[in-house]
Amino acid sequence: MTAESMKNRVCVVTGGNAGIGKAIVQTLAAQGAQVVLVSRDKARGETAVQDIRQSISNAHIDLVVGDLGTIAATHQLAQSLLDRYPAIHVLINNAGVWPTKKQLNTDGLEQSFMVNHLAPFMLNRLLLDRLKASAPARIVNVSAGLYVNGRVDLSKTPYGHDFHPIRTYANTKLCNLLCLPLEATQMAGSGVTLNAVHPGVINTNLGIMRGPLGWLMKLIKRGWGTPEQGAIAPVWLATAPELATTHGQYFNEKEATPLAEIAQDTELAQQLWQLSEQLIKSA
Ligand SMILES: NC(=O)c1ccc[n+]([C@@H]2O[C@H](COP(=O)([O-])OP(=O)(O)OC[C@H]3O[C@@H](n4cnc5c(N)ncnc54)[C@H](OP(=O)(O)O)[C@@H]3O)[C@@H](O)[C@H]2O)c1
Repeated sequence: MTAESMKNRVCVVTGGNAGIGKAIVQTLAAQGAQVVLVSRDKARGETAVQDIRQSISNAHIDLVVGDLGTIAATHQLAQSLLDRYPAIHVLINNAGVWPTKKQLNTDGLEQSFMVNHLAPFMLNRLLLDRLKASAPARIVNVSAGLYVNGRVDLSKTPYGHDFHPIRTYANTKLCNLLCLPLEATQMAGSGVTLNAVHPGVINTNLGIMRGPLGWLMKLIKRGWGTPEQGAIAPVWLATAPELATTHGQYFNEKEATPLAEIAQDTELAQQLWQLSEQLIKSA
């Protein structure tokens, strides 16, 4: 879309206060969109909004404080968005965590399963009617190429029974991608498109940032892409006119890429879908 046509389009970006999300907010704001920066922390969100306004004086950015760490908090965030925005044109599910230690939330779910899989799964459902009513609308799930290393076991993964500091992140991103074809089928013809994207290997706060290994990672990460580079493909998917009808696809940066076989296990996807629905209902 041109800068002109992004005007008045309401674009919700989760995890908008840092890293790739903040760069996505900045890019969309520069294009004239009304951007809703979702941050779990008010102060970090306010700082990000101020930073962006310093470079784009007329930026139209709202801060919405919302946590994706539990089922109840995700419901609450969706309700805040529905209460505040009569139209939502773009939802970018960007927030993500790479936990190095097993941590369960109050639902008994492993935190990255919640933030990386269940929260976007929930937001896509809870905001769908509003997106449909605002169509044409787009959802972009920020995924990760590391999903290919995932091995999801539904009796273990959601609850952290198979926690591993590297594989767990991959597992949760695989969970999200397993549901992509089913979610896309459900949305087909609704005027809302859904695609997923690996944004590149980007120097952000993600992953190990503390202790001696944290310092080593910081050094290694200096050679990685910038958050602005990481924002390019997600923003393109959310705005490019040539992608108006592109739906249900996975992109490695800007390249449409078939999902690896491991993400095409339709039986596992159905089971995960049902489990995700049960978890949401029973919370
Ligand atoms: N960096 C890479 O190389 C890379 C590669 C592939 C995919 N990705 C994906 O890109 C996305 C953005 O990551 P990033 O690299 O920009 O990492 P980041 O700098 O750590 O940013 C992650 C964002 O998610 C937010 N977040 C984490 N837990 C949350 C929760 N419970 N509720 C609400 N927000 C929460 C963070 O908030 P706080 O600031 O409050 O923690 C932060 O705003 C993630 O989905 C990640 O998996 C990144």
